[in-house]
Amino acid sequence: MSKAFSLEAIVRPNILALKPYRCARDDYSSGILLDANENSFGSVLEVGEPRSSQDLHRYPDPNQVPIKERLVSFRGLPSIDYFFLGVGSDEIIDLVIRIFCVPGKDKILITPPTYGMYSVCANINDVSIVKVNLDVEDGRFQLKTDEISKALSENPSIKIIFLCSPGNPTGTALSHNDIKAILEDPNLNGVVVVDEAYIDFMDEGRNASVAKWAERYPNIIVMQTLSKSFGLAGVRLGIGISNPEIIQLMNNTKAPYNVNSLTSSIALDALSPKNIEKMRSTTQQIQVEKTKLMSSIVRLRGIGKIIGANDANFILVQILDETCEKPDRERAQSVYKKLAEYHGVVVRYRGSEFGCEGCLRITVGTPQENDTLIEKLGVALEIK
Ligand SMILES: Cc1ncc(COP(=O)(O)O)c(C=O)c1O
Repeated sequence: MSKAFSLEAIVRPNILALKPYRCARDDYSSGILLDANENSFGSVLEVGEPRSSQDLHRYPDPNQVPIKERLVSFRGLPSIDYFFLGVGSDEIIDLVIRIFCVPGKDKILITPPTYGMYSVCANINDVSIVKVNLDVEDGRFQLKTDEISKALSENPSIKIIFLCSPGNPTGTALSHNDIKAILEDPNLNGVVVVDEAYIDFMDEGRNASVAKWAERYPNIIVMQTLSKSFGLAGVRLGIGISNPEIIQLMNNTKAPYNVNSLTSSIALDALSPKNIEKMRSTTQQIQVEKTKLMSSIVRLRGIGKIIGANDANFILVQILDETCEKPDRERAQSVYKKLAEYHGVVVRYRGSEFGCEGCLRITVGTPQENDTLIEKLGVALEIK
C-alpha cells in the first residue's frame, strides 16, 4: 500500500465506538461461580455420561485461549492476539461484513466463480456486490488484478475483497503475487479476506497459506476452518487470522459465548500435535484418492476435462453433450439429478457458474464411495 493504512477510516463508526459486552468471566473463570445465572446444580445429564465432564452448566470460555495457543504453534504466528474463533468461517464472513460495511452504502468485491456465502451475507446486510470475474481461460481461475484495481478506483466504497484460495468451486489456489498486488493496491480502501478453507489439502511444500502475512499487512484477514481438512464440519469452528487491532474489533462485535463448550473441547483435542499429524496423513490419503478418481473419471464417455488445479478435496468435471463435443449444462443437470434420485449419490451441480459451463463439483470420497460414484456416473451418462 502506498497510502498509510488507517483502520479508523474504514471501520463502521458504530463498531469503532462499540463498548463490547463484558462478562465477569472475562476477568475471573474459577472459584465459586455465581456471576452468570447458570444452573449451579449442574446439567440434566447424568454424571458419567460422556459429555457431563465438560461443565455444560457453565457458559463457555469467551476467549478460548487454549485453542488459540495451539493455533499459534500450528500456524506460526506470534501470539493468540492474531486469532479469532467463530461458529464456522460462515460466522466470520458475516461478522467482517458487519464490521466494515455500512448497510445501504458500502460494497464488497467478489471474484466469480466463488463461494456463495459472501454474496448471501452481503445481501442479508444490505451491502452491494461488485463482481470482477476470475480469468477462467483454460480453467486458470486466477485473479484479474488490473480489473480489480480499476473496480477499486471506481468504487471507493468497496470495503472488503473476498478471495478464495484454493477456490470453491474452482479448486485452484490463487497466485501469491496477485494477492500481494491487491493488498498493496493504492486504490484499496478496505481489507482483503483470503478464505483458506481448503488450504491443508495443498502440499505443504508449496508453502500455500498466507496466514503469516497478518504480521506484515494491516489489511489482511485470513479465514481457515476445522470443517474440511480436520473433518470436523459438525463442530462449527472457523478461524480468523489478522493483526491484533482487527481481531480486537472482531472480538468486540461477536456474541459473547459464540464458541460452545462441546466445540471448544473437541477443537482443542483436534489441534493437538498428534491430531495435526493425523490431519496431514488424511489429507495425503485424500490426494492419492483424488488422483485415482481423476484418472477413472476421465475414462467415462461423456466426461470432458477436469478443470482447475485440483488443489482442494474436490474436482470440477465437465459433462459433455451427447456428441461429446462441448460442455452441456442441461445434461450436467440431468446427470446430477439422476445420480441423486436413482443412485443415491449426491454431487454438486455448478454448471451455470461463470467459467464452469456444464460442470459438476465432486468431493473426493472414501475408496469405496469413489468406486460407487464411478460406476453410477457411468450409468447416469449412458444415453437413452
Ligand atoms: C470456500 C469456503 N469457505 C467457507 C466455507 C464454510 O466453512 P465453515 O464450515 O467453516 O463455515 C466453505 C464451506 O463449504 C467453503 O467452501
